[in-house]
Amino acid sequence: MTHDELLYWLKETDKDKLEVLFSKADEVRKKHVGDDVHLRALVEISNHCSRQCHYCGLRAGNKDVKRYSMSKEEILACANKAASMGYGTIVMQAGEDFGLDVEWLAEVIKEIKQKTPMAVTLSLGERTKDELVLWKNAGADRYLMRFETSNAKLFKKLHPPISENAPDRIQILKTLKQIGYEVGSGVMTGIPNQSWDSLARDIELFKELNLDMIGSGPYIAHPDTPLGDDENCHCEEQSDVAISENQVPANVEIAYKLMALTRIMCPDTNIPCTTAVTVLNGELGFRTGLSCGANVLMPDFTPPEYRVLYQIYPGKGQNKTCVENDADVRQLIMDSGRTVGTGQGASPNMGKHK
Ligand code: 5AD
Repeated sequence: MTHDELLYWLKETDKDKLEVLFSKADEVRKKHVGDDVHLRALVEISNHCSRQCHYCGLRAGNKDVKRYSMSKEEILACANKAASMGYGTIVMQAGEDFGLDVEWLAEVIKEIKQKTPMAVTLSLGERTKDELVLWKNAGADRYLMRFETSNAKLFKKLHPPISENAPDRIQILKTLKQIGYEVGSGVMTGIPNQSWDSLARDIELFKELNLDMIGSGPYIAHPDTPLGDDENCHCEEQSDVAISENQVPANVEIAYKLMALTRIMCPDTNIPCTTAVTVLNGELGFRTGLSCGANVLMPDFTPPEYRVLYQIYPGKGQNKTCVENDADVRQLIMDSGRTVGTGQGASPNMGKHK
């Protein structure tokens, strides 16, 4: 698809026309990654964060957050549970926690790999090459890090860099590929000041980066962040401020269109229906995501006492796609005419470029 075609579809709101886009994406999904929906057990191992991202509730400046770090035993208990329930992947996510002991995490990874047949995915923010290599050598298979928006100026404004010459996320994504990780990324849709043009460019960048996983989700304003307080909130549904014609709205329909276009542009990649979509649109979000390109779901395996403290945005801790509802999740997958994936569910894209 050309840039103009991407723009056309992103802006389209006619339901009948969008049906055509969604069924095309569904067809491509079936042909390239089949009917399996892979389940990933998401474990949020720490909510400490040293960064000041303007959109995120876990930002260092938010002093109202009670911070936690899970112990090795707690993480291993989640891993064993996920493996015994047939999950093929554990995703360990945290804020950019520089208190996290790098060697300690390598030991945790090794132990999960020794004791379970699961793939290990990390999502720990911007780390140094040495750290990423150490964890890869310990057995980690995949790494997730969204670039959030391809508009470098907007990204820098919302995501103050640690230092002027620190590598940006695009550079780190390329390093991750070189090291041999299966690499995932994605963006938020409807960030204040995100234009249609930059969103179309995001999809082109997914393709250029040859990503193995692409998970995007709508921006949800968090009241305790600089971007989410009422004055700065430019989202139609989330404030009274009128949005400009050029502004991508933060609604869930955009997220579906982005999923469908991502599937068409990057047919072999794994695409999750992300938590923000299910938070905004519940069960319908889940079904719709699966029908317009998604083939992955990431139920929350974080112990409930910690889950409520991992509020990147409001409502996240009450997400229904979680370990307690595993049976319902599986039922919904089958009701959607799909099958629950077995094994690690690696991206076919990875096999191709290896
Ligand atoms: N709304 C939606 N998604 C958010 N994220 C962070 N803050 C928000 C928010 N307010 C997303 C970012 C990050 C991922 C872990 O969560 O895209 O990469």
